[in-house]
Amino acid sequence: MLTNQYMNKSGSVELADAETTSLLDVRAIGKTYRSRGNLGAGADSYVLRDFSVRFEQSGRQVIALVGESGSGKTTAGRIALGLLTPTDGDVLYLGRPIREMPRRERKQFRRDVQAVAQDPYSAFNPFYRVGHIFHLAQRKLRMYATKAEERDAIEEALGFVGLEERDILARYPHQLSGGERQRLMIARALFVRPRLIVADEPVSMVDANLRLQILEIIERVRSELGISLLYISHDLSTVYKIASDIIVLHNGEVVESGPAHSVITNPSHPYTQLLIDSTPSPDPTVRW
Ligand SMILES: Nc1ncnc2c1ncn2[C@@H]1O[C@H](COP(=O)(O)OP(=O)(O)OP(=O)(O)O)[C@@H](O)[C@H]1O
Ligand SMILES: [Mg+2]
Repeated sequence: MLTNQYMNKSGSVELADAETTSLLDVRAIGKTYRSRGNLGAGADSYVLRDFSVRFEQSGRQVIALVGESGSGKTTAGRIALGLLTPTDGDVLYLGRPIREMPRRERKQFRRDVQAVAQDPYSAFNPFYRVGHIFHLAQRKLRMYATKAEERDAIEEALGFVGLEERDILARYPHQLSGGERQRLMIARALFVRPRLIVADEPVSMVDANLRLQILEIIERVRSELGISLLYISHDLSTVYKIASDIIVLHNGEVVESGPAHSVITNPSHPYTQLLIDSTPSPDPTVRW
């Protein structure tokens, strides 16, 4: 059984702080990009503005980020992962701004906050057998002291996502189905034993059947492993199944946020209502 390392990792913060300090605190971030004018130069324009989200140390929190294409979801997710520097605001990990973290703490942050991407194909190197992604993670983060420990952890992670086939690690990315690749990406994230996963449209590229399967895995990641998730999607019907809270982005601005139930059943912004109305699924208000 994979267990989260929350218990022994919290030793790094003062006990008094441990209860009040958030795991990840994304504070009023903004991001601008230079838009290209005819002569090459242009003005800076915001693609994300005043965005905040907080995850507590207790875990098991799924917060969804929804909005149409181009609304700024991936930008927000990449900033939360520390992959993109915000123009305004700060990202705090265990109370410390990540931009001024010393190497060792930054490594811990990189390990604790993992990404699962929309298109798992792009995450694999086509020339390597898929088992390589685990060895890469181990080489970078050195989580396991021995080869045997590493092997056990890989096996556990694969078991958790239902990929028990013996030969799977020896295959090349193109020899896997889309669902297998996506589950493998989740397994890779679990192998690192994170506390938070940023999942950017993890089910948008798979068919309805697989979508349900992957959503079930994500729900077990939350409930059995105690991991929190920032779940990015444009599809409210999947979001409502697993998220406790929903943040709605529109043109880079938060137009609504709150408990999933009230956002869905009683939206206060017309854009949210539009999203709900355009949700194709049977009934977005039915939770698991
Ligand atoms: N590197 C970049 N340079 C300039 N503009 C960018 C860059 N990356 C993103 N943008 C712009 O920022 C805006 C938000 O993009 P983002 O990828 O965050 O949206 P999204 O909500 O994830 O969309 P989708 O649902 O299509 O994935 C878009 O208008 C996009 O064109
Ligand atoms: Mg995106």
